[in-house]
Amino acid sequence: MFKIVKARDYADMSRKAANIISAQVILKPDCVLGLATGSTPIGAYHQLIDWYNKGDVDFSQVSTYNLDEYRGLTHDDPQSYHYFMRDNFFDHINIDLANTHVPDGSNPDAEAACSAYDKMVEEAGYPDLQLLGIGNNGHIGFNEPDDHFSKGTHCVDLTESTIKANSRLFEREEDVPRQAYTMGVQTIMYARMILVVANGAAKAQAVHDMCFGPVTPQCPASILQLHPNVVVVADAEALSLC
Ligand code: GLP
Repeated sequence: MFKIVKARDYADMSRKAANIISAQVILKPDCVLGLATGSTPIGAYHQLIDWYNKGDVDFSQVSTYNLDEYRGLTHDDPQSYHYFMRDNFFDHINIDLANTHVPDGSNPDAEAACSAYDKMVEEAGYPDLQLLGIGNNGHIGFNEPDDHFSKGTHCVDLTESTIKANSRLFEREEDVPRQAYTMGVQTIMYARMILVVANGAAKAQAVHDMCFGPVTPQCPASILQLHPNVVVVADAEALSLC
């Protein structure tokens, strides 16, 4: 069941998303949050930091599981999602870093890295709330369009369109890793609530297909139509085809 919340702009989208996340933390202080990277959720993270600084939200008992990580980057590489999460969120709130988890992209043994991650997420009981961005091609995490929906954490080859889209964050396109470890679609669906954030015209087709297109692995986000509790917070441009 989708609930679509229309935001005025990026700042409004970020505040609305942060409100939903902070409500989760207030209602269940030891909740499990599934977190996402990409530029879209940064505003929500910064809003949560602001509320934390004002004493409104306490992350001391929260644990987190991120969706994905580039394969081959160390945790301290500024392009890694480990680094991104500390830089944009974890280092600015009172979360215990031992309770934060991101797939281990520095482990070249994909099988071992992915199964260890699945075990951790399962033992944690899966996220109470999973935050998701969406790729221009409808990907969630790094689950790219495919002929089937993925299950657990696995190694993926990134598509040319994702490499191109994400290259804006790297010095050169050649620097973008070609592979990543990502939570699978089935694992994402185990979250009890899913919050999708999207802004800008580049996401309009993907947001439309996610909400109203056929449920198909060619648009991985479309499977969210089968989840009982999904909130989409998006700005007018991202909703322009809906
Ligand atoms: C990356 C991430 C996704 C994210 C997507 C969109 O590929 N792996 O989790 O949703 O980018 O990113 P952005 O929010 O920067 O548009």
